[in-house]
Amino acid sequence: MIRYKLWVWVLCLVFPTWVWAENETRTCTSFTQQGRQVTFHLADSAALQLQLCSSSVVKIWFSPDGQLQRRNASFAVINEELEEVGTIHVDEQAACYEIFTPKLRIRVNKSPMSLQIFDKYQKLLFSDYADKGHVSEGTKKVEYKVLRRDEHFFGLGEKAGKMDRRGESYKMWNSDKPCYSVVEDPLYKSIPFFMSNYRYGIFLDNTYKTEFKFGTESRDYYSFEAPNGEMVYYFIFGKDYKEIISQYVGLTGKPIMPPKWALGFAQCRGLLTSEKLSREIAEGYRKRGIPCDIIYQDIGWTEYLQDFEWRKGNYENPKKMLSDLKEMGFKVVVSQDPVIAQANKKQWEEADRLGYFVKDHTNGKSYDMPWPWGGNCGVVDFTLPAVADWWGTYQQKPIDDGISGFWTDMGEPAWSNEEQTERLVMKHHLGMHDEIHNVYGLTWDKVVKEQFEKRNPDRRVFQMTRAAYAGLQRYTFGWTGDSGNGDDVLQGWGQLANQIPVMLSAGLGLIPFSSCDITGYCGDIEDYPAMAELYTRWIQFGAFNPLSRIHHEGDNPVEPWLFGPEAEKNAKAAIELKYRLLPYIYTYAREAYDTGLPIMRPLFLEYPMDMETFSTDAQFLFGRELLVAPVVKKGARTKNVYLPEGTWIDYNNKQTVYTGEQWTTVDAPLSSVPMFVKQGSIIPTMPVMNYIHEKPVYPLTFEIFPAQEGAQAAFTLYEDEGENLGYQRHEFVKTPIICSTLANGYELTVFAREGKGYTVPGPRNLLFRIYSAKAPKEVTVKGKKIKKTKPERLEENLENDTETVAWSWDKEAGICSVRIPDKGVDEQLMITFK
Ligand code: NOJ
Repeated sequence: MIRYKLWVWVLCLVFPTWVWAENETRTCTSFTQQGRQVTFHLADSAALQLQLCSSSVVKIWFSPDGQLQRRNASFAVINEELEEVGTIHVDEQAACYEIFTPKLRIRVNKSPMSLQIFDKYQKLLFSDYADKGHVSEGTKKVEYKVLRRDEHFFGLGEKAGKMDRRGESYKMWNSDKPCYSVVEDPLYKSIPFFMSNYRYGIFLDNTYKTEFKFGTESRDYYSFEAPNGEMVYYFIFGKDYKEIISQYVGLTGKPIMPPKWALGFAQCRGLLTSEKLSREIAEGYRKRGIPCDIIYQDIGWTEYLQDFEWRKGNYENPKKMLSDLKEMGFKVVVSQDPVIAQANKKQWEEADRLGYFVKDHTNGKSYDMPWPWGGNCGVVDFTLPAVADWWGTYQQKPIDDGISGFWTDMGEPAWSNEEQTERLVMKHHLGMHDEIHNVYGLTWDKVVKEQFEKRNPDRRVFQMTRAAYAGLQRYTFGWTGDSGNGDDVLQGWGQLANQIPVMLSAGLGLIPFSSCDITGYCGDIEDYPAMAELYTRWIQFGAFNPLSRIHHEGDNPVEPWLFGPEAEKNAKAAIELKYRLLPYIYTYAREAYDTGLPIMRPLFLEYPMDMETFSTDAQFLFGRELLVAPVVKKGARTKNVYLPEGTWIDYNNKQTVYTGEQWTTVDAPLSSVPMFVKQGSIIPTMPVMNYIHEKPVYPLTFEIFPAQEGAQAAFTLYEDEGENLGYQRHEFVKTPIICSTLANGYELTVFAREGKGYTVPGPRNLLFRIYSAKAPKEVTVKGKKIKKTKPERLEENLENDTETVAWSWDKEAGICSVRIPDKGVDEQLMITFK
């Protein structure tokens, strides 16, 4: 026997995986059952617990010592009982146990123990890799899973590099990485949730520095691992990515809706920290008629972290500044950091005395944290419940002065990247730093949001965050931090291109509302004319970010009028397009709240069966109807675009039509972003405004791209008050519109407004702009012929005259337009062809 062991050890030295294999071949001997949970007991006293959250979601918990208690409740999961599952029957066979749900067949093989999950047609979805499904070594646990030749992975939230994660490995450790490279990992956020094209998702609910290796070690398996903590993960089956995401929402919560103004444009700069500059920028926007809703103040707005007081000398009369800016239609959002500077003696001593700082466990004192500005700090311990109200009182001060939201920065907390191992001595109320690091930002965001709502009842919070963990969507919106090329700002093209997959992946990780720093943040700008092209392309992409913010480091001004007249014109056009699309965008904001789906979505979300979409990282869908392909290459005036199934109309030149399921090269002049609308779509738009609530009453224009004969185009417009929490109380209205293409014309049905608790401001007009294949002969409304007018006259006095009912035909452009007053009732329009 001794000789055998010796022999094994010699072999293990030569082939280290032997330790792994010998150690981990486990046998399942029995099971116990309690409600939704079935615990399989293994011969070596380990346990594998399966909990049915629904017929398609299984919580899997592997415990090497058989202990099944969590040290901390999950920070991410708020609901594990997604549906009734009835009585669970475990079917014992000679070689395995099986549990059947209406969707899954879950098998635990006895010896060696291994877990396999099949769909109801016996197709293997997810499987332990041989006998190495669940491996442990000390506190470390690794899960090895079978990797199929054609398996691809997406997700992990905001991560750099290509969206298809196969062949790459990733870590979760919230990191402050200024000017991060296009393959940098880890970045600021940890969202350990990914999806496979084998129709399942995995959410690994472990806050330690987890790692994911998608086939980097072998072509036969992939793995995910945690250095410590419980190996708890959720297997989520769905017929497609959308269904998987919707169940992940069920587990981790719905995204909050931003206030409507947050969907407008925003201007920032590192040293935008004074009243004078804020006023100048505000005037600059209004003078030039470039729409803008938000002016940010970076952290220097306050002298001492984090007393929430306006820096003396920089702000003469902050309240007056805020009310003047408000008059001009601007909101002000200020930055906050999660620390108290020692130089801020009074507040530091207060927090120290109350025990509100994270401790240094080697000496029990408040941890002495170096900070990039403002000197050493105390790190506020947001895992301590008493901290919430204390922070809330401070943060309320600028809100009472008139600011509209926060930009929660540096919550990794900054300067605690992997290399800074000295931070691991930090002890938080809920645990040591290795466990809390990745949720530090999340616990802060929770406090910011809950305190905001407590002190400002019935107002939507605005909070934009850099560092976070899964579940952040319940509290905050996101931004992707310091990209751009710090060495040479003019070479930031790769960083711009990288922002597309970074943001698309963020969206899949339940950050439907996010922004990148338009201009890339990093790098001093010396040659403005030379920067004009990159600026233009960045703003053209940024206009389609759910939140659009121009931001750059230090005192580098990046307002749209600084890069020459052509860049200004093109930037203005990009921004105006965003404002025009607001009714469409806002409808999708509601969809994000209802379903978790982002408006900026990768093609495979809508076309999951089309594997070509797996490599379309340089374009995205904007909602279901629009496809946007920003130019992200220097000097490029064409763009190679993949159009999925269907017929696609060039949005910039609506008479050019493409057939889908192929790559095509399109023109991409500097003046516009390549953009396509799917045949059979309706896009609601509004007039361009200086800011979103500038005109409470305005006409709605529906751009209609009719479907082919016998088919329909449809859209349901969503509207609500825009600022309060009524959206959570079902206070909204919806207007469904259907355009059916018949052999002799189009039948357009506007259904009576549905919903209650919100009244649309009126009276207003509805304008239908139908891109018609044929010339119309006549138009009727509810069976009555209406008058025809010249195209140039149709929109006369559209804002005020809500009596006129008329139509026009623009032969050149192929547009039939019809105007009717919006009475909120059923309307039937018939456009009959000649
Ligand atoms: C780091 C943020 O990423 C950046 O956007 C900000 O300007 C600086 N902190 C200063 O607050």
